[in-house]
Amino acid sequence: MKRAKISIIGIGHVGSACALLAVQQRLGDVVLVDIPALDGLPQGRALDLYEATPLIGTDARIIGTTNYEDVQGSDLVILTAGVVRKPGMSRDDLLSINAGIIKTIATNVAQAAPQAILIVVSNPLDAMVYAAWQASGFAPQRVIGQAGVLDTSRYRAFVAQAVGCSVNDVQALLLGGHGDDMVPLKRYTYAGGIPITQLLDHQKLDEIIDRTRKGGAEIVRLLKTSSAAYTPAAATIEMARAILHDQKRILPCAAYCDQEYGIGGYFVGVPCVLGSAGVERVLQVELDDAEQQAFDGSVEHVRSLVAALKKMS
Ligand code: LAC
Repeated sequence: MKRAKISIIGIGHVGSACALLAVQQRLGDVVLVDIPALDGLPQGRALDLYEATPLIGTDARIIGTTNYEDVQGSDLVILTAGVVRKPGMSRDDLLSINAGIIKTIATNVAQAAPQAILIVVSNPLDAMVYAAWQASGFAPQRVIGQAGVLDTSRYRAFVAQAVGCSVNDVQALLLGGHGDDMVPLKRYTYAGGIPITQLLDHQKLDEIIDRTRKGGAEIVRLLKTSSAAYTPAAATIEMARAILHDQKRILPCAAYCDQEYGIGGYFVGVPCVLGSAGVERVLQVELDDAEQQAFDGSVEHVRSLVAALKKMS
């Protein structure tokens, strides 16, 4: 059977962590790609990781390159390239610089691996996934933004800490864009099958939701010169595994929604069934008035980001 081939574009903290996790989880052969100005970086990271394969116990083939010819035949391409924010910056402040980077990459990837599925990780996420979709010319089901899995993981971790239970027992749903207006849903949060409002009071839950919304900025404030890497990478690889193993996982992703939720042609965070075709289905959940209002606000923010993106091109 043919092995999966995974290319990771942008070998910063997130790209490097994605590579390690992909190899540890034996998802396939891995190609690390970065720009010619950083020649040596992807090759060095790849060699370092290859040298660990006897310890990891895998015979994965791993190469580093600055040449898109090596991306040919990839089943899955993960786009992590771009500038990350500094303390005090919002994700939106990265729009103009990262849009150019993502468009160039998506164009190159589409030429080299026209059958691939793209997972976009770069910020501002909801606009970058749109830019990658347009530049690649791919069907929207094959272009997916990673944000909801990361944000839900943060939310689940904080909820588990407050309840004093295993993170494995917390299930949750979060909708909307990857911004401070993302919408964690209390009504769809459970610990061990118990509705979370029976275990935590609303004030505590509101504090957790606020911390989740600002979770990316909390890490940036601590690190000062970079942003989160382990959770974004773990979230990306969770999606990669769902796709490569055709798992039909229900995961919150930035997926193209047209009729769905009445969104009209934008990528926003919604629960999706992820399998070998990419986003195989967007699931519609019932929202009460307050939830709908919060979701509409977040979608409006995504629309304004995409409008700013369109103005630039
Ligand atoms: C975060 C950044 C990476 O949420 O968007 O950590």
